[in-house]
Amino acid sequence: MTEFRATITATESYFPSKIITNKDLEKTVDTSDEWIRTRTGITQRHQAKKGQAASHLAIEAIEKLLKKTKTAPEEIDLIIVGTISPDTFFPSTACRIIDAIGAKNAWGFDLSAACSGYIYALATADQFVRSGRYKKVIAVGVDVMSSILDPKDRNTCIIFGDGCGVTLIEPILKDTELGIIDHLCHVDGAGIDLLYMPAGGSLHPTTQETLDTGMHYLKQDGKTVFKHAVTEMARISEEILERNNISPSDIDVFIPHQANIRIIESAQKKLKLKDEQVIINIDQRANTTAGTIPTCLDMAQRDGRLEKGKMVLLTTFGAGFTAGAVLMRWSY
Ligand SMILES: CC(C)(COP(=O)(O)OP(=O)(O)OC[C@H]1O[C@@H](n2cnc3c(N)ncnc32)[C@H](O)[C@@H]1OP(=O)(O)O)[C@@H](O)C(=O)NCCC(=O)NCCS
Repeated sequence: MTEFRATITATESYFPSKIITNKDLEKTVDTSDEWIRTRTGITQRHQAKKGQAASHLAIEAIEKLLKKTKTAPEEIDLIIVGTISPDTFFPSTACRIIDAIGAKNAWGFDLSAACSGYIYALATADQFVRSGRYKKVIAVGVDVMSSILDPKDRNTCIIFGDGCGVTLIEPILKDTELGIIDHLCHVDGAGIDLLYMPAGGSLHPTTQETLDTGMHYLKQDGKTVFKHAVTEMARISEEILERNNISPSDIDVFIPHQANIRIIESAQKKLKLKDEQVIINIDQRANTTAGTIPTCLDMAQRDGRLEKGKMVLLTTFGAGFTAGAVLMRWSY
């Protein structure tokens, strides 16, 4: 029997054109460009226009992906959308995307894992493709964080941005030793009340009171989340490397979730990685939640840092807490 691995065969991304700089935020909350840059590494972020939802960002990115790879929408089997800012609770963002791009033979679903949304989507895509059942799967990481942020809360509104990254996943023969080698996904419920959106779901359905008290906005205990992120990003990276007998020095490209430059630097230090091994876009894009890793992949692919045969480690951490890592050899 022919044995397959799954591999990423194309990347794309889309960011809304409107840019909000740190200086812009100085006008709306008590903050400074200096504080944001030194405490987070962020200088600017993109913001969706009114009415521009997660599906709209994803459709822009997927249409570019299909054009670039000369793929007809009918060839797509499955679209998995990692997001915590879906257009609506239901129908899913995936349904809207599938309809809009004319992917008549595809099915799909949204997957909620916060900042780990893309890694969970990629791990799921891997299973479907590796089994030989599906030939073309799109894994999406998209978030319109501006739709769930309190613009008056300086603890949160400065950190996040809007953006989308998409990847095409296809089978590759296992004996090429290219493609996805392993993935690891993890949940630790210690984070349930540390980074969350209290209202709007079945626990606290929307009422005038939830609106008046701002329970429909994202809340975060930044300091505590920071500590967990620093530990877990390094731990999960080490676990996936160790169980595959790979040393950090064998990694050519490390793409960590982009939550805070200090978290990235801490993971880099623990893994003893050189600057040139680490991909960073938080300075220009901020934390785009499920969008950080696929947009970094697209950036690294465009600027030539991802080449055939390179060993790549993706590592994430997010609300839940969720965490995950994917190890792969780049195949094109
Ligand atoms: C949110 C975060 C940037 C805050 O940075 P921090 O260094 O931990 O800052 P603190 O929360 O300790 O606040 C330090 C001070 O700065 C203040 N401050 C907070 N936000 C500020 C802002 N935007 N501008 C200016 N000052 C601010 C605080 O009020 C506090 O003041 P005080 O000392 O007078 O009380 C940081 O904790 C973080 O990145 N956390 C993790 C985020 C994360 O990973 N989230 C998602 C996981 S996917």
